[in-house]
Amino acid sequence: MTAFKTLDDADLAGKRALVRVDLNVPMEDGKVTDATRIDRILPTIREMSAKGAKVILLAHFGRPKGPDAKNSLKQVVPALAHALGQPVTFVDDCIGDDVARAVAAAKNGDVLLLENTRFHAGDEKNDPDFVKALAANGDLYVNDAFSAAHRAHASTEGLAHVLPAYAGRTMQAELEALSAGLDNPARPVMAIVGGAKVSTKLDLLGNLVRKVDVLAIGGGMANTFLAARGLDVGKSLCEHDLVATAREIEAKAKAAGCEILLPVDALVAREFKANPGHRVVKVGEVAADEMILDAGPLSVAEVVLK
Ligand code: 3PG
Repeated sequence: MTAFKTLDDADLAGKRALVRVDLNVPMEDGKVTDATRIDRILPTIREMSAKGAKVILLAHFGRPKGPDAKNSLKQVVPALAHALGQPVTFVDDCIGDDVARAVAAAKNGDVLLLENTRFHAGDEKNDPDFVKALAANGDLYVNDAFSAAHRAHASTEGLAHVLPAYAGRTMQAELEALSAGLDNPARPVMAIVGGAKVSTKLDLLGNLVRKVDVLAIGGGMANTFLAARGLDVGKSLCEHDLVATAREIEAKAKAAGCEILLPVDALVAREFKANPGHRVVKVGEVAADEMILDAGPLSVAEVVLK
């Protein structure tokens, strides 16, 4: 794996540090219902703050089409400050003079959270002007958002080209684990992948089949592979336009000697809501008005026993 710089290599005292984190946390009625992602970024924030950086957090929330209160990161501030045990200053934009003023007013060690980067279309477009506007408020860039790192956006990728860039502690741990698992692993190796879409993970899947002995595919993505094998997945989340791609990945896997493991049974329901009526069926027996919402017990056992 390519070498990367970590916080050990960064001179942080008195520096304006733009830190990309993943604060795309589950919320209900304005409250964070699962703080796992917040807990994950605490070591990086605490270390940087203790070393005297002005810690300027950048993050996205949801998939907004422009600014809207529902997707404001402001609502995450209480949970973040509570977990951190120190105040977090919120700034209601992620670029511009308000940010510059707030950063100038901050003391070394202070933590600021900037508004949702996706309120600007330039983030997802990785627009060089937007990258420049973000970079204007930082001396260096730290990426601690592994779970958003598969997207080449301004805040996840663009900034790394224009500022001295470092991996945060969570990113570092993930990269080291990946390296241990993929570079020179004790075989056999199984990778378990999930998520909604094949389309966002094409390169990843193509890469993995060359490195692992078994690739277990779950989540919504499995449905596209099941459809590619000719099975009816009813109303399930499925990228029907990508069945040919799924077949290509299967062919690549076969050529590389990698076994692709798909669910053999599934938990299905007619609606996507809490506690719907559901049943467990073999994957070939999903009714036209049903959707696959989880792998069934036989599928789980197959992965565990493999
Ligand atoms: C996630 O929640 O999976 C990450 O934060 C990435 O979010 P995205 O799929 O909206 O880019």
